[in-house]
Amino acid sequence: MKQSLSGLLVATLLLISCNTPMTKAIEITQSTLALPLEVLGAEGYTVTAKINIARGSTARTLWLQVNNLSYDNKASVQINDAAWIGLRNDNTDIEAAGKAYGGIGGGYSTLRLRVPIVGAMDGENTIRFRFNQSDGVSIGYRVLALNLYDENSSPLIPSTAFSKTKPIDWIPTRNTPQDIAKGKALWSEAGLKASYLSNAKAIKANCADCHTQDGRDLHQFNYSSYSIVERSKFHGLSQIEGEQIASYIRSLQQTLGTPSERCRPWNPPYQPGAGLDAEKDWTCGAGLDAVLENDADSLQSVFPNGYNKAAIATTGLLNAREIPVAFQLPDWKRWLPRVHPMDAWGDEFTNSSLNKRYAGEGTGSDKTVLRDLLKTRGQDYILGKNGDFWTDSYYWGVEWGERWKPSTPIDRNNLEHQAALYSTAQWLLVKNWELAQEFNLEEHCPALYRARVAKNPAIKASKVEARSWCGHWRFIFDVSPHILKIPENNNIFGSNKARTYFANAWYYLQLLINPGSGIHNVHLPTDWQYAYGLLNDLEDVSQRLEPARGLIYIVKGSQEMANGIGVHDVERGWNFRDATPLDVWTEGKTGRWKNMPDATRIAVVNAYLETWLDQSEQYPETQWQRIDGADGDNWCGWSQRRLCWKDYQPGTLRGTNPTRENFATWSFEAIPNMRADGINGALLNRYADLMHKLYPNAEYLALKR
Ligand code: HEC
Repeated sequence: MKQSLSGLLVATLLLISCNTPMTKAIEITQSTLALPLEVLGAEGYTVTAKINIARGSTARTLWLQVNNLSYDNKASVQINDAAWIGLRNDNTDIEAAGKAYGGIGGGYSTLRLRVPIVGAMDGENTIRFRFNQSDGVSIGYRVLALNLYDENSSPLIPSTAFSKTKPIDWIPTRNTPQDIAKGKALWSEAGLKASYLSNAKAIKANCADCHTQDGRDLHQFNYSSYSIVERSKFHGLSQIEGEQIASYIRSLQQTLGTPSERCRPWNPPYQPGAGLDAEKDWTCGAGLDAVLENDADSLQSVFPNGYNKAAIATTGLLNAREIPVAFQLPDWKRWLPRVHPMDAWGDEFTNSSLNKRYAGEGTGSDKTVLRDLLKTRGQDYILGKNGDFWTDSYYWGVEWGERWKPSTPIDRNNLEHQAALYSTAQWLLVKNWELAQEFNLEEHCPALYRARVAKNPAIKASKVEARSWCGHWRFIFDVSPHILKIPENNNIFGSNKARTYFANAWYYLQLLINPGSGIHNVHLPTDWQYAYGLLNDLEDVSQRLEPARGLIYIVKGSQEMANGIGVHDVERGWNFRDATPLDVWTEGKTGRWKNMPDATRIAVVNAYLETWLDQSEQYPETQWQRIDGADGDNWCGWSQRRLCWKDYQPGTLRGTNPTRENFATWSFEAIPNMRADGINGALLNRYADLMHKLYPNAEYLALKR
């Protein structure tokens, strides 16, 4: 019953198996195989690819690069008439970092894996990909690349056998003004079901609520018309309605222009890469290809002219947007909320100020409506000449971060409660992304930082990023399951590895999108020490070490602290909580730098130690804020930014909740260990002198050699 016409894309009906209903399938018989294969749609949907492979009979494994393989047995593959193989963690060999963060269903949105196969032949082969069943969240996956390998791991299909689908070729199937208008209306008022699963309920949210209000996210990341139709059907709409929505999204091209080639569903938003600032569509990131294989390779971009302190000077401004890292950020699908807050919390959300402040909906008491103000006042509002976008957006964050108290107490062991929390943080994130794109905030924000300093020089926004989101509120950081206190086990991410990956990924995205531009204040817009801590946690759960990405974090943190304010106000200025050489060294050869050559470790730690000393030595002891011993200010522990008592003896217990976990004690113990690890002796002597200046009664001078 299969029909194929060479050189054509043929849609045909295939019976998948006795248990699955008749499902539409696509058979691809072009001279080249156009990738990706979109294995998206109803449960059981199958894509069939025919490929000519001269030495096909020698094939032993199938290699795949797949986006959104989000659970075991979501996908099955079949070679010719051999048995179907369900892809699972226990029968596939998943490459490197993808595996370390949990593999299928883990952190990475795109995985590369191999699976043993039989049944390939010399000549034409049929490879089928099936989407087995939905988890109520996903409608399938995309095969971005594939090959067959022989027993020597040599690829059998030449790259000339493949081509790439081009978004520009997608022709809207219903391109009349009436259909486009209908699609636009459906986007915001269709009335949807949560999914096509038989037990799925009606939901209050529409496409526009979870995505962007005008659908520009699907346009920006080039979601195919096919995927939009299938996703519409997933939410209970008809084929025609889906096509109308897809035609509306395609029509955005006329007003929003053509997104860059890097803008594809699998390319992680804001993935850093060389030259990105000069490109349009920063938001699309530098692409999956910009994700490095080895963490150590980031060092070339941090130190283009060899290891030296100038490259990472506290007084400098490292462009993290352009430093590729060996860490794949979440794709756009991982930004979207799985449940809209109005469905998660009901009227309590709809009528809250948290909702009101975004677009004016509901009966919340808030009078400020960000979307209206941005629309009517534009750049003047953003730059603080007519109203104050900075403060208004800050209080939007406060509505969630500090004031949101639902009447049903949140039980963090309850998966539904976890989903409500996480999805609400994601909703805020997506709506911030929407405002940032629609009102060009990524370009205006640097000007806003400068305008604020011009008004009030004490603000010291001395580190203005060329591109960023504005303000103090940490809308990205706050999506982290760590800050949301989602438990390590029994969580919506399926594993502690995946949870910790996301905890770290959102922290890193905050660093990329809005590290602060020098306006750091306590733990806004990033709590640096938390971010460093979560990198440690991620290394613990994955056993994958990232000293170079760790260095980028700490260099950015210390540059943010070295903003000209100094040590009389450690919550805003320089301090030893948010940037220290110990965070870079991290036990050296026995710790995070274990897999790095000695010479590299020593050179990098020396470079950082030197710039940190240059900065720290500037301040007379008398300028430093210290805990004063009064009630509430008598604790000298790990997160204290002030210095301890001047006569403190490292290693002793003192004050409220006494602890040895403080910078004075850590330094006392670390200086000899760093010396043994090969760190520059003269610099370590300067370190000892600095600590002696700050704690004259302690025996730091005895550590000098
Ligand atoms: C409750 C929030 C919500 C609503 C409402 C919603 N979406 Fe989505 N959408 C998501 C999430 C979450 C994903 C990512 C799913 C995944 O992880 O596979 C997604 C994914 C998609 C995708 C990508 C699918 C893929 O696998 O490539 C498209 C296209 C899409 N949505 C279109 C729509 C359209 C059209 C509507 C309205 C008919 C809509 N969405 C309504 C949350 C929502």
